[in-house]
Amino acid sequence: MTSPQPLRFGTAWYPEQWPEERWEADLQLMEAAHMNVVRVAEFAWSTMEPSEGHFDFTWLDHAITLAAKHHIAVVLGTPTAAPPAWLTTKYPETLRVDEDGKRAEHGNRQHFSFTSPRYRELSARIALEMAKHFGHNPNVIGWQLDNELAAPSFDPSAKQQFHLWLQHRYGTIAELNRRWATAYWSQTYDNFDEIPVHAKGENPALLLDWKRFATDTWVDYMANQINVIRPNIAPGQFITTNTMHWFQGFDHYVLHRSLDIAAWDDYYPDGHLDPVVNAVQHDLVRGFKQKNFWVMETQPGFVNWGAINTILPPGVTREMAWQAVGHGADAVLYWQWRSALNGQEEYHGTLLGADGTPVPIYAELQKTGAEFEQASKALAGTSLHASVAVLQSYDSHWAIDFQKHSQKFDYEEQFTDLYRALQPLAQNIDILSPDADLTGYKVVFAPSLNVISDATAKNLLAYVQRGGHLVLGPRSGMKNGDNALQPERQPGPLAAALGGHVAQYYALDKPVEITGPLGSGSAAIWAEELSPTAPDAKVLMTYADSAGWLAGKPAAIEHGFGKGSITYIGATLDAGLMKAAVTSSLSEAEVHPILPGLPADVELMDRSSAQGAVWIFINHGSAAQHVETHRDGTELLSGKSGQSIELPPHGVAVYQLARRP
Ligand code: GAL
Repeated sequence: MTSPQPLRFGTAWYPEQWPEERWEADLQLMEAAHMNVVRVAEFAWSTMEPSEGHFDFTWLDHAITLAAKHHIAVVLGTPTAAPPAWLTTKYPETLRVDEDGKRAEHGNRQHFSFTSPRYRELSARIALEMAKHFGHNPNVIGWQLDNELAAPSFDPSAKQQFHLWLQHRYGTIAELNRRWATAYWSQTYDNFDEIPVHAKGENPALLLDWKRFATDTWVDYMANQINVIRPNIAPGQFITTNTMHWFQGFDHYVLHRSLDIAAWDDYYPDGHLDPVVNAVQHDLVRGFKQKNFWVMETQPGFVNWGAINTILPPGVTREMAWQAVGHGADAVLYWQWRSALNGQEEYHGTLLGADGTPVPIYAELQKTGAEFEQASKALAGTSLHASVAVLQSYDSHWAIDFQKHSQKFDYEEQFTDLYRALQPLAQNIDILSPDADLTGYKVVFAPSLNVISDATAKNLLAYVQRGGHLVLGPRSGMKNGDNALQPERQPGPLAAALGGHVAQYYALDKPVEITGPLGSGSAAIWAEELSPTAPDAKVLMTYADSAGWLAGKPAAIEHGFGKGSITYIGATLDAGLMKAAVTSSLSEAEVHPILPGLPADVELMDRSSAQGAVWIFINHGSAAQHVETHRDGTELLSGKSGQSIELPPHGVAVYQLARRP
């Protein structure tokens, strides 16, 4: 199914926390802010099922009907992130156990065990009752399952299921021993029941399998609800869950297979937006389903859980909303409308104050809502199309985090450094799983593809053979799918096609200089010596003579393979060299910016459909900017037509092209 239209703008609303007489006033104020969607009920289990098996949806019926009167559609949350006290009291085995063996108590949230069979039963029951009751309500447009799936449990049922999972994966304990290399430290197991359950400090194969087990368990946890919801809802209602950008608790590509759209929660606790970091996160989430997504939660100015909960400067909450849309969001919802008068989040940013009247940021969001309304029609059915992809691998991220080798090596930072160089040159960028279909991408970057399974190797080699350009970054191809060292040197199964390999890797405590045809610069965190083996492998960068073990050795090589090429960059490049490397890869692959020559602070995002294209420009800087579009078009927020736009500091332009480029 496609994402619902029009562009949605709204908030998380908790009618169960307020007397019904208040709801009308809230909805009026939402409508006045041009809101057309609310997410409700995701923590309302104790109100919907006040005692076991007794359901009360009357209040929610009223809230949904009243919302409809104000032209506000509803996304319903299943309330399983917050089981009620009667449940955890009667069924204490449903409570989560942390890695140190401590069982959770009531009074917070996410206190359930993700493997507990009893919890599954009780979750399915409330989800089914909700689906039967609301599945054909015309004002309910979608479902959010649970809320920010996060904490695994280490209780006896989790341990038992992990053992079964391992048995299923390996068949025999001998096979597990072989692939985990358990002769090391006498880790050899005689049967699956002996295997410990840990998420740190263990054999890297166990750690990776625990993450995969957690992924499959969350998939199953979702399926438990989807299986009862899906048959009872209208086909137009979507099913999603809200995730947390880089969160590493499970493989999001796998989790999203059974969901209709991706949705995420976009927060800047310190109040300082880094537009590149935010852009990466949006593209990451768009890649979960390779289509438009929702921002299910974002801050109305500030949060309550950072070190210093600074507010975003004036205009930046609006800027963030438009950046989300630019990157493919079809909805932006604020968390939350108004704080409950008590509870853990009293200090969080809201649109209304404790007295029920607007706080200062309401006006900024009201303006944003009006703009969404203005641009909604032009953006309907549009999405992003990119000729450049960056591969993001959960296996690799996990494997590096288990054995960092340098505390300074941060997977997300490495990824973002590459993206930072790439974005002004490529503009639209897709972030994908290494197992995604890469057909049609002119160039594919894989910044730290540490784990390369046989299937991934096959996918990448086929891509290059057909004419693709693959650019690998440091630490690539060191591990196989069992998180074991590849018996070849890096990049393992790609070494032959690369016509070279990594002779040695080095964690750096001070920068090493690099020179070569692309320019000079340095690497500060990681450096690998490349060793070309094919006579036609080209050396692109070389370490300087002052670089100790690396002196005079290749830092990057490139080799033609099939109709395409593979480049391996073995060093964490500084910004200048990264830009040079990326520029060279893009020019070889004939990738050009959608609109060249933009000022450095101006980001362009291109959403298009068969009918037309809309360019969203955002000035992330604090000086005004002028942009020549070189195309006829109309800026939808001002209504001005022409070939140029003016962007004040933190300004936004939504520029509908007169013709498809
Ligand atoms: C999210 C959560 C919300 C709310 C919000 C506060 O992580 O889903 O329920 O707690 O944070 O920023």
